[in-house]
Amino acid sequence: MALHGKRILLIISGGIAAYKSLDLIRRLRDQGAAVRCVLTKGATQFVTPLSVSALSEDRVYQDIFSLTDEAEMGHIQLSRDADLLLVAPATADILARMAAGIANDLATTALLATDKPVMVVPAMNVRMWEHAATKANCALLAERGVAFVGPVQGDMACGEYGFGRMTDVPDIVNSVVGHFNGGPLAGRRILVTSGPTFEAIDPVRYIANRSSGKQGHAVAAALSGLGAETILISGPTALADPAGVKMIKVESARDMLAACKDALPADAAICVAAVADWRVKSAATQKLKKNGGGPPMLEFAENPDILKTLSKGGNNRPELVVGFAAETENVVDNARTKRKTKKCDWILANDVSPTTGTFGGDANTIHLVADGAEEAWPTMTKQQVAERLAARISDHFGKST
Ligand code: CTP
Repeated sequence: MALHGKRILLIISGGIAAYKSLDLIRRLRDQGAAVRCVLTKGATQFVTPLSVSALSEDRVYQDIFSLTDEAEMGHIQLSRDADLLLVAPATADILARMAAGIANDLATTALLATDKPVMVVPAMNVRMWEHAATKANCALLAERGVAFVGPVQGDMACGEYGFGRMTDVPDIVNSVVGHFNGGPLAGRRILVTSGPTFEAIDPVRYIANRSSGKQGHAVAAALSGLGAETILISGPTALADPAGVKMIKVESARDMLAACKDALPADAAICVAAVADWRVKSAATQKLKKNGGGPPMLEFAENPDILKTLSKGGNNRPELVVGFAAETENVVDNARTKRKTKKCDWILANDVSPTTGTFGGDANTIHLVADGAEEAWPTMTKQQVAERLAARISDHFGKST
């Protein structure tokens, strides 16, 4: 009963994910929390006050101008009588009103009047989540100390795919537990590299690879969800910045290494980026022209190996250094060799042959190679791989402290 004695004010706003709040109420109560609910007008289109009341075994608050609500408990008291205000689902609209300080219904009035921690679980269409207005609102709220849980990527009720899906209920409960306990990785600083690197040929052309950054970004989000101070150093991707992580955007392998070194010391480094092994030795400062002399001869130079550099880092070596091995053949053997040559602690090997669809896709099949331990993980979504890895990292630090 990890939430025994905790009082949670659950604010349910009007999105299709609101139906999941019913399960959330049940699971929070299973952990010993007392859950009192506020429904926005929109939320009542998706869940009924009766079902919310039945599950929370409490009355449901909806109307700021209701005499009965006010007589029983004033809206100011409602917002302060809780240990945590949890907004799930949090629509783009309620996030915007929170950011602007608008108090035009009971939910937003309680959020403005509270002196208690606030946690939001966004759920919306991917375009709405990626809209500059939503990004700015979330950045402002995060800066003011509002904790974000998700969103995660996946299929949405609207038929689209991407970031915007509400975090699964068990993971929301974990985050709430993490909030009260500080999270199993609280106090740990973890670097994650993600995405491809771009290596310039001239000012307009570059060499890159097919990495989408999905796996690295998901790892960063999962670590942050467990309370780690997470620094995500990423090459160019089309992904939204995961909430709650410190984002550092780079282009080339050399920039990525410099950013990693700047971010040290850290307790762990998780190298998920598909770093280009080679760069053009001397990138042209002007655009290369067709001058009738045939194609240019490009001379290549080897890029620094970030994983190896961090693993060999001497006094500044993170306690735990983890790499991914992208292989197209002899996956496990190559991973074992890579772990030794790169001197990292764990390697997560994955088969990236075109037939597997791993690069750019959503699923991944991992084989973990550690010192004296090997594990074959079933095929999972990149999100699930991230959560399993984050849990394993948390176990590692649990044992080493
Ligand atoms: N890596 C890195 N810096 C590089 C190359 C790779 O940090 N310059 C890291 C990756 O982030 C990954 C691991 O090393 O964690 C293995 O990357 P992979 O592409 O599988 O291996 P390479 O070192 O590039 O070896 P090869 O191309 O021979 O398979």
